[in-house]
Amino acid sequence: MPTLTLSHVTKSFRDQRALCDVTLSVDAGERVALLGHNGAGKSTLMKIVLGLIAADSGTIAILGSPQGSPAARRATSYLPENVAFHPALSGLEQLRLYLRLRGEPVDQAADLLERVGLGSAGRRRIGGYSKGMRQRVGLAQALIGRPQLLVLDEPTSGLDPVSRRDFYSILNDLAGAGTAILLSSHALTEVEAQTDRIAILSNGLLVANDSLASLRRRAALPIQVQIATRPDTVEEVVRRVAGTRVNGTRVELTCRHDNKLTRLAEVAGLGDLVEDVEIIPPSLEQIYHHFSKAGAEQ
Ligand SMILES: Nc1ncnc2c1ncn2[C@@H]1O[C@H](COP(=O)(O)OP(=O)(O)OP(=O)(O)O)[C@@H](O)[C@H]1O
Ligand SMILES: [Mg+2]
Repeated sequence: MPTLTLSHVTKSFRDQRALCDVTLSVDAGERVALLGHNGAGKSTLMKIVLGLIAADSGTIAILGSPQGSPAARRATSYLPENVAFHPALSGLEQLRLYLRLRGEPVDQAADLLERVGLGSAGRRRIGGYSKGMRQRVGLAQALIGRPQLLVLDEPTSGLDPVSRRDFYSILNDLAGAGTAILLSSHALTEVEAQTDRIAILSNGLLVANDSLASLRRRAALPIQVQIATRPDTVEEVVRRVAGTRVNGTRVELTCRHDNKLTRLAEVAGLGDLVEDVEIIPPSLEQIYHHFSKAGAEQ
């Protein structure tokens, strides 16, 4: 049984469609990225999973229990898009408050702060924290009680590169221990490297839901080949592979997905006219555009 299952979930706000017939599941230990433009429905989907707002139709189950039920709430942790804390409380006090609310021993607060790299700032007032530090308090709060489902709405916005790396290493530990993770993000490069499956919402429609490798195959976008030549061979390489000369020693060509191996064989046939070859697959950004465009046309 997947940790989280949404079947045919639809939600509108008055005449504004937010989600349309969305079916999606997240297994234990799986990290799923929810992508989509502003207003695509990501936060709405998460709030429905949390039981904070009701769907118009469809069903949502967390470990077999309906969203919002005591069992579902116990299993789930949430980091909202805009974390707000009491500015007068210290990090430690705020976490103790959350621990108490969740019925957990309050002496875990210091460990939790340590885990998110706030060990030394715990006694300072949250009002004086930077945006990234507040985001870390939010993450510490979401780690309470070893959640089986972790729902994170743009968790890395405001984090610097090192903090992002630390953040994903915490997530990866949790996933390794069986937590199902659903996170939304606009940072495609990090999502590309750090998640197992990509779900793309476009105007409330789920237009893609697969591993990056499968989406890449399905999108069948052109592949870029960069050939490093010597100054005295660049012209001949351009002629033989019908490529584009970029500079004195570099030639580029794009090839269709279904033509990839033939084109690479031609490049290999150039032998020592070539110094090096790099094959650049379509990025998640290109794949994202491909699927969200297809969704917008539906
Ligand atoms: N409480 C609400 N009342 C009215 N409309 C809403 C409400 N919440 C969301 N919407 C609408 O539902 C749609 C989806 O919004 P949602 O917040 O889920 O988008 P999102 O994908 O999270 O966007 P972002 O990337 O900007 O956070 C939008 O058209 C939004 O205006
Ligand atoms: Mg949002």
